[in-house]
Amino acid sequence: MGRISERIRYVGVNDLQKVIFEGMWPLPFGVSYNSYLVISDKVALIDTVEAGFAAEYMDNIRKELGDRKVDYLVVNHMEPDHSSLIRLVREAWPDVRIVGNAKTVPMIKGYHGIADNIHIVKEGDSISLGDCTLTFYMAPMVHWPETMVTYLNEEKTLFSGDAFGTFGAVDGGIQDQTARLMGSSDSALDTFDAFRDEMRRYYSNIVGKFGQTVQAALKKLSGLEISRICATHGPVWEKNIPEVISYYDRLSRYDADNGVCIAYASMYGNTAAAAKALAAALEERGVECVLHNLCTENVSYAYRDVFKYNTLVVGSPTYNNDIFPPAYGFMYGVCARLVKNRRFAAFGSFTWAGASVKLLNEMASRAGMELISDGLSFPQAYSKEKCDMEALADKIAASLK
Ligand code: FEO
Repeated sequence: MGRISERIRYVGVNDLQKVIFEGMWPLPFGVSYNSYLVISDKVALIDTVEAGFAAEYMDNIRKELGDRKVDYLVVNHMEPDHSSLIRLVREAWPDVRIVGNAKTVPMIKGYHGIADNIHIVKEGDSISLGDCTLTFYMAPMVHWPETMVTYLNEEKTLFSGDAFGTFGAVDGGIQDQTARLMGSSDSALDTFDAFRDEMRRYYSNIVGKFGQTVQAALKKLSGLEISRICATHGPVWEKNIPEVISYYDRLSRYDADNGVCIAYASMYGNTAAAAKALAAALEERGVECVLHNLCTENVSYAYRDVFKYNTLVVGSPTYNNDIFPPAYGFMYGVCARLVKNRRFAAFGSFTWAGASVKLLNEMASRAGMELISDGLSFPQAYSKEKCDMEALADKIAASLK
């Protein structure tokens, strides 16, 4: 997959071994760690890859460079999935000049013990490689403080770090003209459509809290003419650039489709029965909805759909006079992501005293969500009489009109 253009070569890797990314997020389709060479009179390497891929990575670089050396290593982002092999690159080419910003420097020292031959760049600084120039723009908190992007002026190419990245290993060539989501059953989909759900899951799981700073970065980048986006995960975007930028814009504004994400946790099946009754009632009314069981699924998928739909309904039994922990953990994560512009409702069973619905409503209200109803708290076993999901579905359907 090496050649992107005469100057730009892909030297990244697909990770199909890792099951859980960052110790939290499942990888049903794997993930790619993207790194790029810009080859001119001088050679720049943009970011590295995860620690376990040293041999494959160095092989990829040497296939493109032969005996030539790497002159610059640009560090757009210090998270270890992209920075783990900095020391290896320095060992392979001892004169390599590491390019980062002031916030990168202590991180390189702390992770790798490297403090020498570092070139510190500021907003708008450039480095000439000979017949082409790299320009650097700071993108703080997208999603770490040191994050920056690198622009290859002559090819209108943005090396964007994690921005515009996605979960999912890449098959069929790295560029979006041919790239496919590895392991996907639907090969007929356009590349952006094939990756859209994994992009939203990546965004919501990892970047979700930083909507405001992503918006600031998008505003800054809107002044650049961009014909190619080389992110650190997923395909290189060329033909799908309008869709990808517009989708990141929507996600970072917390803009969402009309529909309902029902996320529930249940100890003995009563709150689960209520969740399923609500889903059925919504379907009868033609309202799009998805159901997530927080006890059996990784929460990654529910966050993905919190960023898809404008209405969130959470079910939790009362446990220790509190919210049941799987539902609390989920709701904590929603609030931590500063999710905005959502309508909310809660439901759940209790045996001797109800607390979960009231506490969920309080969390949602503090997060600025609009309560559609007071919630449905019901004693002991679920029944239609005790927990009127038809009425809640009516309210939700009316709120979505
Ligand atoms: Fe892919 Fe923030 O690292």
